[in-house]
Formats: sequence, C-alpha cells, structure tokens
Amino acid sequence: MPDDVRVALERVRERRGAIGRRILWLASTGSTNDVAAHLAEGGADEGTTVVAESQTAGRGRLGRQWFSPAGAGLYVSVILRPRHVFGRGQNPVALLTLGSGVAVAESVRSVTGLPAEIKWPNDVLINRRKLAGILAESAAQGGALQYVVLGIGLNLRTTAYPAELAARVTSIEAETNRAPDRALMLAEVLAAIGDRYADLRAGRFDAILSAWRGFARSLPSAPVEWDSPRGLVRGRAEDIDEQGALLVRVGDRIERVVAGQVRWL
Ligand code: BTN
Repeated sequence: MPDDVRVALERVRERRGAIGRRILWLASTGSTNDVAAHLAEGGADEGTTVVAESQTAGRGRLGRQWFSPAGAGLYVSVILRPRHVFGRGQNPVALLTLGSGVAVAESVRSVTGLPAEIKWPNDVLINRRKLAGILAESAAQGGALQYVVLGIGLNLRTTAYPAELAARVTSIEAETNRAPDRALMLAEVLAAIGDRYADLRAGRFDAILSAWRGFARSLPSAPVEWDSPRGLVRGRAEDIDEQGALLVRVGDRIERVVAGQVRWL
C-alpha cells in the first residue's frame, strides 16, 4: 500500500475500528467484490478490505458495469459480518446499504465540502450527477447471514467516460477543479463506515435513517416510475421505512418499493 495511504489510515484508526485492519492492496483485479467474497468464504475477519487501483470487470447494481480505469477512482470492498447485530424483522443488508450511502456522502462532504446527496438506495450525487455507488452483496447459509461485502466505487478524477455515461457522472476533480487526495478520501470513507457500522451495532437505526433523510434532498415528492408485474407504475417518492424500502405515493395509496429499478423522472 502506498505510504500516504498508510499514514492517512493511521490517523483514523480509532474511528475505523475493525474496518481496514487488514487491507489487501491490488494494482488490478477483476472485481474487488469478488476478491472480498472469496476471502470471506475462506473465513477472513470482519473489516478485511480489498482496494484495487483498477478493475477489469467492475460491477454495479442491476447487472451494470462499473467503469474502473487506473487512477480514476476508489474501488474498495469491505467484508462485514453483522450476524448478531440485528433483531427480528430487521433487514441487515438494507440497513447496511443505507448506512454505507450515508458514510460515503458524509466523507465526501467532509473532505471536499461538496454538497453530496443520496438517491435511493445509495447513489451519491453532486448536482444530480453520480459521484459514487455502492454494491452490497451478501451470502447466507441455512437462513443465517454469513457476510456482507460492501463494494464502493467513487469517482476521483475526470476521465474519458463512455459516451452513455459522460452526461450522468461526475468526479471530485470535475467538481472542485483540483486533483483529489486519494489517501485522505479512502481513509475518510473507511472511518465513516466505521462510525455508521458502530451505529448499526449499537441499534441506533434512527440515527442512520435520519442522516439518510438529511442527504436525500429530492425527497419528498420526487417523481419516479418503475415496472411492476401489473405494468408501469408512476408515483412520487415520499420517504423510506425502517427496512430501507422506498415509500411511493401512487394516487391515494403508498406503495413500498424494495428492489429493482426505480427511474427518477
Ligand atoms: C452502483 O451501481 O452504483 C454500484 C457500484 C459499485 C462499484 C464498486 S467498485 C468496488 C466494488 N467492486 C465492484 O465490482 N463493484 C464495487
């Protein structure tokens, strides 16, 4: 791992807790989520973190690719084992997903001062353009959650994005006109995940949900649509519930959207 990263991580050691206690630093890999899942299957400790300088098969949500050229972004995956943290009826992956979105948005605001916002479930945007995304993947055995891999991609530098992405994404460099401090950004992301994971472990779900709402400025009343088994549904996103589902007003009723693709209009 580069020296500046080591120094920056050391400064936030307490906040990170177990997060990043062990870091596997790779020049290039297919997907850091795959490497982390493989390590988790082999029994790697909670908090083990994989960082790559580039990915050749970076994945996004909903089967999309995550454009991951060298030096352009942070590509990070963290193994969590929240087995004993949650009560009945709680959805650990959904809450972790919201908590990690909050952590990334908080770290962007604190390092850069940029007005980061969150779009459900956990896209981090600046002025409606996507800056960062999170892919949470989990494995269970006999109904018991074994581990969650939190994969975080954050655009640092302006780069030659494919044409279909260029108008919808941004980077810290594009927003600040300065080369970002990669080491500081990585350290702050891991520290903020440590903070928010501590909230989850202590059962402070309300703290996560209210922080999330504070970053989700498009709510309430953002127009959305999605494909449901009964066809296209349009409504206005109003809130999230404590399971992390999006609550959408459709006519005079509220619909709960848990997964799949919501299009923001
Ligand atoms: C999204 O679609 O918004 C989620 C993007 C997640 C990308 C990150 S980069 C590090 C980790 N490895 C992957 O293959 N994906 C995640």
